[in-house]
Amino acid sequence: MVTLPRSKENCMPSIKADQVGSVSWQSPSNIALIKYWGKHGNQLPNNPSISFTLSKSFSETTITYSPRTAFDRPISLDFYFEGKQNKPFSDRVRQYLTKLLPSFSYLSGIHLEISSSNSFPHSAGIASSASAFSALAMALCDIDILVGDSASASQIDIRKASEMARLGSGSACRSVYPKMALWGLTDQIEQSTDLASIPMGDQIHEVFKDYRDAILIASQDQKSVSSSIGHSLMQDHPFAETRYREARSNLNQILVALKSGDIEKMGFITEMEAMQLHALMLCSKPNYILLQPNTLQIIREIKNYRKESKVPVHFTLDAGPNVHILYPSSFRTEVRNLIEERLLIYCQDAKWIDDQVGDGPSKKNNGDKGGLLKYSPRAD
Ligand code: PMV
Repeated sequence: MVTLPRSKENCMPSIKADQVGSVSWQSPSNIALIKYWGKHGNQLPNNPSISFTLSKSFSETTITYSPRTAFDRPISLDFYFEGKQNKPFSDRVRQYLTKLLPSFSYLSGIHLEISSSNSFPHSAGIASSASAFSALAMALCDIDILVGDSASASQIDIRKASEMARLGSGSACRSVYPKMALWGLTDQIEQSTDLASIPMGDQIHEVFKDYRDAILIASQDQKSVSSSIGHSLMQDHPFAETRYREARSNLNQILVALKSGDIEKMGFITEMEAMQLHALMLCSKPNYILLQPNTLQIIREIKNYRKESKVPVHFTLDAGPNVHILYPSSFRTEVRNLIEERLLIYCQDAKWIDDQVGDGPSKKNNGDKGGLLKYSPRAD
């Protein structure tokens, strides 16, 4: 076995010449019920948040690693998104990996070829950073076992993966657990921390374990204001402190509803959270609007339908115009009819994603692309 020379400075650890390998991870997006909006320090949240882990909206990331031969940059990387080189994404990933050097010393000794793709089109207006960074973090933790400092470990340290995902995109830290995850310190839940998310799947009622989320694409346009700018506008926001207090109070109440299976209460709080998030944007300095006319039409229709039919459908929103309809799996037929008969006219190109609460990240066998779903408005 040949050990490759260390870098010029002789300070970068190098892996063995025959240590060439590849890992692939699939990780889902998540939808927050209590929203994280506003951060400080190194990606630390200003309030705790909780989310459903999704299933069909996921990223798949393959990292092929080999000993590096060039040492001109801190990270040796080739990055492909959907099979093509992508400069903005590549720059963001390079920056992210540089930040992770103290946690994964092996990164200084290897060349990485990273290929990432989504089960949903990038242009669909679905936040992909949660799925992308959680998939990447899982893959990096996996390589740490194969060639890094965690060589003695038999399985991935999910808490570390969550912490690493957080450094890429805050909400990504909640995607590593099945069903539901909570991120941020709260005196309601022991073990909760601002550094990583914790699993909540065993603390929720059965009805929520297969809850459904129909994601209606009100607009596929690029957002006018990014989430990172949105977070930063919370710094001098006139309602920041009130918002953080509200988020804590909403979290305490929703935890009770999630445990007892109180769908109405859960839906009431979830809708309020979505509205508060967008209300904060409407009165940020400067103000901005991510809601689209179609978003409001869809919300209006959902409210009318709920009143008429008594079917427990509730909505939530991410930092964007698309509407997530949350509902119990027993009402799947009713909600499908609702979408087809009353809501598709407000969806761009009649697009929606028929998603549900899922089981978290999974490792793919090398070469196995079987799990990658083709996006379809009517995917089952
Ligand atoms: O993870 P980020 O920085 O993209 O922020 C996500 C913020 C929201 O999606 C609006 C809320 C949340 O908690 O996911």
